[in-house]
Amino acid sequence: MTLDVVILAAGKGTRMYSQKPKVLHEIGGQAMLAHVIAAAAALDNPALHVVIGYGADAIKQHFTAQSDTPALHWALQEQQLGTGHAVQQALPGIDTSQTDNLTLVLYGDVPLIKTATLKELLQNAHASSIALLTLETPTPAGLGRIIRDADGKVRAIVEEKDASEDERAITEINSGIMAIPSARLAHWLGRLGNNNKQGEYYLTDIIAMACADGCEVTPLVSTDAMELQGVNDKSQLASLERHYQMNRAQELLKTGVTLRDPARLDIRGELTCGVDVVIDANVIFEGKVVLGNDVQIEANTVIRNAVIGNKAKILFGSNIDGAEIGAGASVGPYARLRPGTVLKDDVKIGNFVETKNAVLGKGSKASHLAYLGDAQIGEGVNIGAGTIICNYDGVNKHKTFIGNNVFVGSNSVLIAPVTLAENAFIAAGSAINTDVPESNLAVGRGKQRNIAGWKRPVKPAK
Ligand code: UD1
Ligand code: CA
Repeated sequence: MTLDVVILAAGKGTRMYSQKPKVLHEIGGQAMLAHVIAAAAALDNPALHVVIGYGADAIKQHFTAQSDTPALHWALQEQQLGTGHAVQQALPGIDTSQTDNLTLVLYGDVPLIKTATLKELLQNAHASSIALLTLETPTPAGLGRIIRDADGKVRAIVEEKDASEDERAITEINSGIMAIPSARLAHWLGRLGNNNKQGEYYLTDIIAMACADGCEVTPLVSTDAMELQGVNDKSQLASLERHYQMNRAQELLKTGVTLRDPARLDIRGELTCGVDVVIDANVIFEGKVVLGNDVQIEANTVIRNAVIGNKAKILFGSNIDGAEIGAGASVGPYARLRPGTVLKDDVKIGNFVETKNAVLGKGSKASHLAYLGDAQIGEGVNIGAGTIICNYDGVNKHKTFIGNNVFVGSNSVLIAPVTLAENAFIAAGSAINTDVPESNLAVGRGKQRNIAGWKRPVKPAK
């Protein structure tokens, strides 16, 4: 048995009112199509086909740029003539050689479909059975209705636009997802017509054909409307996003993470938490984030691609991107850590401090208002308020080296390349552009003069 998965993604998504192809709109920071691909890729050795049309190049480019995408076969559907026509475009790549081969049809705009559901569905499909995923719903409007006979056997699917009033009253709808014996698929698709209200080649018409050919249609009835929900507009996108985020929050709660408000948390990537992690409201995680034990994240914080050690605290309003933060460190409030920042254990970064490509050794502190860029800073260093590292001369970036136990007085400017050796002491308000030897005091500022009898300027009389 081989499994071919055909994911339909050729539609424009007119009601998204966007330049972007619909399936590239994101849920949890990932294109909807990427969610579907991931759910399908977790099945048993599937060949993945994606039918694209509108924005085909943009879609291909998106996935080619992503290194973790499984192998995909692209099928181009130049004109969107219907779901049946769409599946037909993938046919040349589908293995129809064995009678028990299966083709599973998925949709790039039904992003929350779960692998477990697909596995269950596939169990109902074989050489003489189509497995059809249906949904029992109080709001069937707009969807294809499942027609069953007196014995409860599925006989056909009728699109709402083609349905009679009685048929519209049916509350079991077609999710669109089905698994079909591949060897018979070409034959059924070849017989499709477009003599219906929308003038389209409906995939759904193969159900009645299969029944007529003595092939069984085995439904799997779901009640999880969110899992099968398609996205046609921004409102549906937003509601699936909330549902997805609430699920992610519930997963964290189950493992013992404290969330002050699970409804105000966004995970757009992968988040791993140790024990006794506490996350306050309005925190956004992006990319790959790892939190150790006893980590506390205060409100209104954005954390992207970071590893945060045990007992570290990220205080209110901080923005962390591409940083490694040691155990017991404290960051913020209102700190900005940029890529290449490494804070060793017990480092303290205070308010309005920006770091980039900077390593701070154990116990070092920059408590207020500083810029630390392209710097290698030792242990026990104190960076005074208002210290700025001038790492950029307008053309090149240069490095600054600061040894252990250096004290940089407030409002100093360190002009790179420069080295402050161990134990050096920089007088407040210095501009330092020359290396400072070990244990020296460097005073890099004009001497203060007090001028007695000074008269303030006065306004000229009118
Ligand atoms: C389809 C089903 C309907 C089901 C509903 C569930 C058909 C005829 N109808 O209706 O029974 O209840 O899904 O959401 O199948 N697509 C292409 N190429 C095309 C046409 C569509 O790739 O030529 C893609 C679209 O981008 C979309 C998906 O297929 O992702 C569904 O197409 P759409 O036209 O939205 O079908 P519905 O009218 O929603
Ligand atoms: Ca649709």
